[in-house]
Amino acid sequence: MAAAGAMPGGLLLTFLLLAVVASGAYNSAGEPPVSRRSFPKGFIFGTASSSYQKIADRSNGDVASDSYHLYKEDVRLMKDMGMDAYRFSISWTRILPNGSLRGGVNKEGIKYYNNLINELLSKGVQPFITLFHWDSPQALEDKYNGFLSPNIINDFKDYAEICFKEFGDRVKNWITFNEPWTFCSNGYATGLFAPGRCSPWEKGNCSVGDSGREPYTACHHQLLAHAETVRLYKAKYQALQKGKIGITLVSHWFVPFSRSKSNNDAAKRAIDFMFMDPLIRGDYPLSMRGLVGNRLPQFTKEQSKLVKGAFDFIGLNYYTANYADNLPPSNGLNNSYTTDSRANLTGVRNGIPIGPQAASPWLYVYPQGFRDLLLYVKENYGNPTVYITENGVDEFNNKTLPLQEALKDDARIEYYHKHLLSLLSAIRDGANVKGYFAWSLLDNFEWSNGYTVRFGINFVDYNDGRKRYPKNSAHWFKKFLLK
Ligand SMILES: *[C@@H]1O[C@H](CO)[C@@H](O)[C@H](O)[C@H]1NC(C)=O
Ligand SMILES: *[C@@H]1O[C@H](CO)[C@@H](O)[C@H](O)[C@H]1NC(C)=O
Ligand SMILES: *[C@@H]1O[C@H](CO)[C@@H](O)[C@H](O)[C@H]1NC(C)=O
Ligand SMILES: *[C@@H]1O[C@H](CO)[C@@H](O)[C@H](O)[C@H]1NC(C)=O
Ligand SMILES: *[C@@H]1O[C@H](CO)[C@@H](O)[C@H](O)[C@H]1NC(C)=O
Repeated sequence: MAAAGAMPGGLLLTFLLLAVVASGAYNSAGEPPVSRRSFPKGFIFGTASSSYQKIADRSNGDVASDSYHLYKEDVRLMKDMGMDAYRFSISWTRILPNGSLRGGVNKEGIKYYNNLINELLSKGVQPFITLFHWDSPQALEDKYNGFLSPNIINDFKDYAEICFKEFGDRVKNWITFNEPWTFCSNGYATGLFAPGRCSPWEKGNCSVGDSGREPYTACHHQLLAHAETVRLYKAKYQALQKGKIGITLVSHWFVPFSRSKSNNDAAKRAIDFMFMDPLIRGDYPLSMRGLVGNRLPQFTKEQSKLVKGAFDFIGLNYYTANYADNLPPSNGLNNSYTTDSRANLTGVRNGIPIGPQAASPWLYVYPQGFRDLLLYVKENYGNPTVYITENGVDEFNNKTLPLQEALKDDARIEYYHKHLLSLLSAIRDGANVKGYFAWSLLDNFEWSNGYTVRFGINFVDYNDGRKRYPKNSAHWFKKFLLK
């Protein structure tokens, strides 16, 4: 996912097919039509999901949407909608139950992913694989504290290499990590996600941790694991397998709280802290080095060279925007990754939200931020090849709402329509975007929100064998995607 449980801070009308014209689909609000044909030739559309991502409703992800058993049906749903691609994640421990090679390889896990990949390809859907979507192996947490140790670099590389060997003949797009910012800030600064580490004074009520250091250490190792894995792929597999490899970053867009220079700077710093700089320039940005000081790990010259440019593409997840307000320097105590950027991030200004709020409290709908972010990336980061690897919105899981009503997700149609127009506008202004993945294919087990919210364009009936039903947005996508 999505997911920003801890982030300082996501409409109704039956969709009328009447409004669909040859050039594409209008939404209920009558915005200009947009369709696949509006986008450049070869642009890829897909949906995304992840493996296991405990939790708001005390549920767990042992079964979740059960794509493990229902994958054929899920591929059929994608095919029905006309999707070109599917982004999913491999669960590290399903391949290496103990996290490292020494613990042995799980042949059943490999078989499952082979079945899924083959099913996708037989239906003409390209797999995009994420190797790490926050499910760090427990055995490695126990052994050396997971990403806090540089040992993770080799174990991750070994795991990735098995995936390249086993699946790389058919998989042409690899994503090493999903959203380092979210993983490190929630896992190690606020403590609200696994592994639940934070300073004693933080919200997460953690038994151990240091919110001012560990998030940087964990993400530093993640960047190095990413870069080493890219080097391995390029040296040993790329020529033969002819695939591409990248990493997915999340970024919200940040709107200065006021027009002051200090708030402009705060908005820029908020983006600086999202880890794009090391990948583009080989080092953390000046603002980050200045503010975090010796709590921020340093790259050696060699590491810097390795990390810089270590991607064929950047995946970007966009959901929402925040206002950024300059925060005065703290007292130097109680340091945290979440406050080091000295940007107070909020969805509301003078009582007015930046956009309509979705079910997730952090998700304010702000489509123009999508374009602004993409043009910022173009201008400030050398216009890398980008895939939008997630974009979407959720509604509450209202257990008493009749099924027929629950399928009327017109707010989601509106969300997608506006965001796709915003994306198109960025592309027309030169943003180098090659594909777009909607989050999510199905209602899913949504990280810290469990089953309390629904992000799917297809409904999952958790009370009846996890049956899938297309929501109105799935029908909308089908029209949108007609060739
Ligand atoms: C897997 O990890 C567990 C816990 O660290 C350990 O007890 C077990 O011996 C390991 N198994 C193998 C095969 O390495
Ligand atoms: C914090 O954790 C302790 C020990 O697990 C527990 O007793 C306490 O109730 C928790 N406090 C909050 C506010 O969750
Ligand atoms: C800072 O941390 C100390 C304990 O380490 C705590 O007493 C204090 O309330 C914290 N201050 C804030 C603003 O969180
Ligand atoms: C952050 O901004 C919000 C909204 O303007 C405000 O209520 C809050 O006090 C600010 N927080 C800090 C630490 O300044
Ligand atoms: C859930 O659905 C029921 C039945 O339509 C409705 O009465 C109720 O207001 C809804 N609850 C929420 C929180 O939207």
